[in-house]
Amino acid sequence: MKILVTGGAGYIGSTTAHHLAEQGQKVVVLDNLSNGHQFAIPKKAVFYNADLLEPTQIDSVFQKEKPDAVIHFAGLIQVGESVKEPLKYYQTNVSGTLNLLFAMKKYACQKIVFSSSAAVYGNPTQIPISETAKLSPVNPYGETKLLAEKMFETCRQSYGLQYVNLRYFNACGAAFGVGENHQPETHLIPLVLSAAQQKFDLSVFGNDYETPDGSCIRDYVHVFDLASAHAKALEYLNGQKPSTAFNLGSGNGFSVLEIIRKAEEITGKKIQFRIKPRREGDPARLVASNEKANKELGWKPTKSLEEIISSAWKFEQSK
Ligand code: UFG
Repeated sequence: MKILVTGGAGYIGSTTAHHLAEQGQKVVVLDNLSNGHQFAIPKKAVFYNADLLEPTQIDSVFQKEKPDAVIHFAGLIQVGESVKEPLKYYQTNVSGTLNLLFAMKKYACQKIVFSSSAAVYGNPTQIPISETAKLSPVNPYGETKLLAEKMFETCRQSYGLQYVNLRYFNACGAAFGVGENHQPETHLIPLVLSAAQQKFDLSVFGNDYETPDGSCIRDYVHVFDLASAHAKALEYLNGQKPSTAFNLGSGNGFSVLEIIRKAEEITGKKIQFRIKPRREGDPARLVASNEKANKELGWKPTKSLEEIISSAWKFEQSK
């Protein structure tokens, strides 16, 4: 199969591109390098420096490559920024996806696996969160992910598009020499590891949540496990199975303070932090039910929290 990976120079996109290339798939990466890194793209992949907001650029990639399927990662990912600059998020995440869908329609490419997010659920009323939970995003980032999901469903009904929406929980860890390298970094694990090297003053946002230690609980899932879920989602679509969404999480929750303690254990370093007020929009607890992905995709996370933090630590030290 020839697979077009948009955002294939980014963190989860490039890890998935490596995994697919290792499986012997033909991988074409489309990325504008606004946040991604060219060095992260697998050597075997064909790379186009192109922008989803430029329909002529997408058209020429489709014309040359005629991909059989698309895995769509390209997009903006910062919740806080999305609140400050929502239009930027609508433009990149919604218009970019729309332009991609136009090209897919024109070139009769009927399969898409989408990089969605647990942010589509907003503040859940039940834990663990299953795919049937109410879709009620609480920030523009989550809203744009949900709008993209809705466009796929409309295209399914009208043109027979086949899609799988993969709703990630907290992606982390490193694989294929690629780890989290965002500018600016806002994610907990890389920040905790920078603090271990005394490169960053770590804050814990809130210790008064209704959780056992008062800090927020999240479901951390290794990026390699996410990559393998994308490969499984393609197999699923090739099996002509119904278009749907899957949660990708470990099913286990860890608090911010537990992550810090585990990172101290793994790095052997004391990690200093300050308790700060709650960060706006943070739900107390987000944990996935991965039962559906397990049953229907045959996917199960394989990497423990230890493996997540040790791989991220190795990457952090190599930066
Ligand atoms: N946190 C801190 N200090 C920091 C950074 C984070 O205490 O310096 C806390 C946050 O308050 C939160 C937890 O660590 O409780 C995890 O925060 P992240 O920023 O690492 O991740 P989020 O859970 O906020 O968001 C992630 C993705 C989003 C996605 C969401 C869905 O980054 O894209 O999961 O679950 F929408």
